[in-house]
Amino acid sequence: MKNAPVNNQPISVKLDIPTGEFTPCMELDPRKVSHLSKMFSDKAAIEEIIRSGDRLVYEIRYYPFITDHSDMALGTTVIFPGTVGGEYYMTKGHFHERNDQPEVYHCVQGEGVLQLMTRQGEYVAVKWEPGTISHIPPQFAHRVVNTGSVPLVFVAVFHVAAGHDYALIEERGFKYMILEKNGQPTEVLNPRWS
Ligand SMILES: [Fe+2]
Repeated sequence: MKNAPVNNQPISVKLDIPTGEFTPCMELDPRKVSHLSKMFSDKAAIEEIIRSGDRLVYEIRYYPFITDHSDMALGTTVIFPGTVGGEYYMTKGHFHERNDQPEVYHCVQGEGVLQLMTRQGEYVAVKWEPGTISHIPPQFAHRVVNTGSVPLVFVAVFHVAAGHDYALIEERGFKYMILEKNGQPTEVLNPRWS
């Protein structure tokens, strides 16, 4: 995340719900299938997509609110509809580097699933629709899966210093994968956890 200037005055931004864009925005971070090659399970499908020119899976936008005494960040994410080898498009998923840091997510468009998981494998899946607000406690990894046919858009609020730790998710994934089966989202045990 880029360094933002200190600003002790209130700041408001305008969110365009259908696109997840807000103004002003300090940073845009596009994530393609190639960035998630360790996250999706079907390696042949991943290679084929990358060979064919790659595909945009989601975009993150940030605005850090830096004051003299607090560092809070606003983020929005838009996950496009689609699948890789039957696995729905999703965010990479991460733990926070700091184990005392929570986060709040607010779904404003689309439908999907928020997956939550501890390092010990305790797993919770929350069905999302517009208006769902979820508190993510510290020490729960979090990932959002778009199981619908339109872009899923959500707002995130977190401490700038929370940090992102992807290591366990890259190695083992989440305990369950959300796959499209007969047109329906289906939770399947991830073989890397069995
Ligand atoms: Fe987070």
